[in-house]
Amino acid sequence: MILVTGATGNLGKATINSLLNKGIPANNIAALVRDESKSAELKSKGIQVRIGDYEHFESLKSAFDDVEKLLLISSSAEIAQRFEQHKNVINAAKESGVHHIIYTSFDMKDLRRSIMGGDVQYHADTSDYLKQIALPYTLMDNTMYADMIPIISGNHILDEGISIPAGNGKTPFLPITEMAEAIAVVLTTTGHETKEYVIAAETAVSFAEIADLISEITGTTIAYKQTDVTSYIAQLVQQGASEDDAAYISRFAGAIAGGEFDTNKSDVRQLLGRSPISLKDFLSGIYGK
Ligand SMILES: NC(=O)c1ccc[n+]([C@@H]2O[C@H](COP(=O)([O-])OP(=O)(O)OC[C@H]3O[C@@H](n4cnc5c(N)ncnc54)[C@H](OP(=O)(O)O)[C@@H]3O)[C@@H](O)[C@H]2O)c1
Repeated sequence: MILVTGATGNLGKATINSLLNKGIPANNIAALVRDESKSAELKSKGIQVRIGDYEHFESLKSAFDDVEKLLLISSSAEIAQRFEQHKNVINAAKESGVHHIIYTSFDMKDLRRSIMGGDVQYHADTSDYLKQIALPYTLMDNTMYADMIPIISGNHILDEGISIPAGNGKTPFLPITEMAEAIAVVLTTTGHETKEYVIAAETAVSFAEIADLISEITGTTIAYKQTDVTSYIAQLVQQGASEDDAAYISRFAGAIAGGEFDTNKSDVRQLLGRSPISLKDFLSGIYGK
């Protein structure tokens, strides 16, 4: 039995779809859900829904019965709660006899020294905890989702251009569906224990290059404006983000500007047996209509 946590979220849903597309029978897939009212779609696909909350160790222990491989999708709770929640999942997995746990970490140059500081350190803490607990593990070091580009670049890219204080920093943005597919490979094949994979596009791009790609796709010139942090936070708040979320996203922009996501390492081709979808093709799906 494979269990996917975060199954009502973007990455969890996409991973379950990838597993089903690979022909894994729905009754061999379990989904951890904390709010049963969100489980109708999963149930309609024949997925076993198991109720559990990262906050409640006992709920996790019963949810993990019979599970061989467990995908721990990092929590979306307040940052300060995330590591404790992940420890609950890992401890419950160990006590329940889970054979192998796969964790979605984050690919940055150095999680502990990032200018994002406390925002991302929980990934390093979770990864270290997994390494020392003596339970076979795999780390999927995900880069930033390509799906975040429209959210962080400004609401009116086609009219007003891209607006983000990301300097010339480069990021190997990768679509969620491609990350899900790579995770599904690890969940359904052998030989991944104690491995750490970089789940990123093969080429990192700057926002100036993203503006050029969208210009090519739309046939109109899209400018890249390197706004200042205060204006950027105001822009995000105007888009509907809370002050806290806007400040959080602006710290991502700062880390991009500092080159913290820039890498030419990627294990996606090795896992998928093909190159990942190009950013241009992904953006064409959004802006090419
Ligand atoms: N690489 C990137 O660019 C990037 C971007 C955004 C986020 N992330 C990280 O990657 C994770 C997955 O991304 P996503 O887009 O799939 O996020 P998402 O759509 O917000 O999904 C988060 C999932 O975690 C579940 N969850 C949260 N707290 C929980 C708890 N206490 N107990 C059990 N389940 C809990 C949520 O359940 P509910 O539906 O009940 O809330 C949801 O299913 C995020 O949580 C975040 O840590 C990465």
